Amino acid sequence: MQLPRLPFTPEQASTVSTEVDALYTYLVAITLFFSVLVTVLILYFAVKYRRRSENELPHPIAGSIKLETMWTVIPFLISMTIFVWGASLYFKLYRPPKDAIEIFVVGKQWMWKFQHTEGQREINELHVPVNAKVKLTLTTEDVIHSFAVPAFRIRSDVVPGRYTFAWFEATKPGRYALYCTEFCGTNHSGMNGYVEVMEPTAYQAWLSGGGSDSPAAQGEQLFQSLGCATCHRADTQGRGPVLTGVFGKLQRIQGGGDVLADEAYIRESIVNPTAKVVEGFQPIMPAYQGQVSEEQLLQLIAYIRSLGAPPAEQGGATMTNSPASGTTTTTGLAPDAQRSNPIGPTSPNVIQGGSPPSGGLSPTSRRPNATTGGTSQTGGNANRQP
Ligand code: CUA
Repeated sequence: MQLPRLPFTPEQASTVSTEVDALYTYLVAITLFFSVLVTVLILYFAVKYRRRSENELPHPIAGSIKLETMWTVIPFLISMTIFVWGASLYFKLYRPPKDAIEIFVVGKQWMWKFQHTEGQREINELHVPVNAKVKLTLTTEDVIHSFAVPAFRIRSDVVPGRYTFAWFEATKPGRYALYCTEFCGTNHSGMNGYVEVMEPTAYQAWLSGGGSDSPAAQGEQLFQSLGCATCHRADTQGRGPVLTGVFGKLQRIQGGGDVLADEAYIRESIVNPTAKVVEGFQPIMPAYQGQVSEEQLLQLIAYIRSLGAPPAEQGGATMTNSPASGTTTTTGLAPDAQRSNPIGPTSPNVIQGGSPPSGGLSPTSRRPNATTGGTSQTGGNANRQP
């Protein structure tokens, strides 16, 4: 539904911005209508039913079922339109599509740090291609911040010890302001930056302009240097669980129950390993709280995710929605992994409403092998331990 745009609203530069504005305009219109109605009635009744003499008594009023039903049912129906419209838009906004480009975001007093799947890092500036879906995985090193890009109509709180998600598809090239919208200390007001939306060719050129290893490759290095590999061996002889194919799957834990091996669980298992120990293993892993930064945690998660699943295990219940799981598990969340999103798993028919990435940005072509020096994730299992 296309409603007139209200004054003072920011530029519309993403696929959802017109929809968010339409809902907002609708809310403002309803509010205005009832404010005017109530004000006019107050004034009218004040005059019409004014006390005309000192000893005038008001007429007794009998109840009216008809009237009461009316003023119950009509507001109920109006509220339901707001609820249904708002909820459907909310689900769309907070369920990142699977085929999105992934970017890690870490907030810190007082800056925004970004890392691309290809390895590029940026601070307070984020380069993205136009007409492509971009998924942000956000967390913070210190206090709560909130990541907002008004032109895209997106906002996501970033909370210590948690991963939150946001996504957008920019519709026109340009430079758009991003803000921290949660008071986070002295320089909160300076915790700003820009999202630079580029034409696909310019974005490719920017991507190939150097950069470090991919997060998954950096995670693999950490995995070795922190000594994780001595217990989490690729064969089943290690003292810790084999991590290949673990991401996005349910794990049976000690004391009963299953836990989904998503970003949040892997993070917890690194910083506080005894919280949920996988069945059949001893709680012997040391805690890495304070020894690895939030960025390193994201890299370790990217590495564990890149381990994929051995061919024999593919086709399990958690993989069925992902036909090309050899590649998609490295670049997007496995369907079940999206449960780390508090509102539940992504339903394909909800998110497929958007147009596919255009401008030659197919999921594979936007991840050139050349940029990562042989540690590209496109191969799916390229980073798997021998
Ligand atoms: Cu970070 Cu306000």
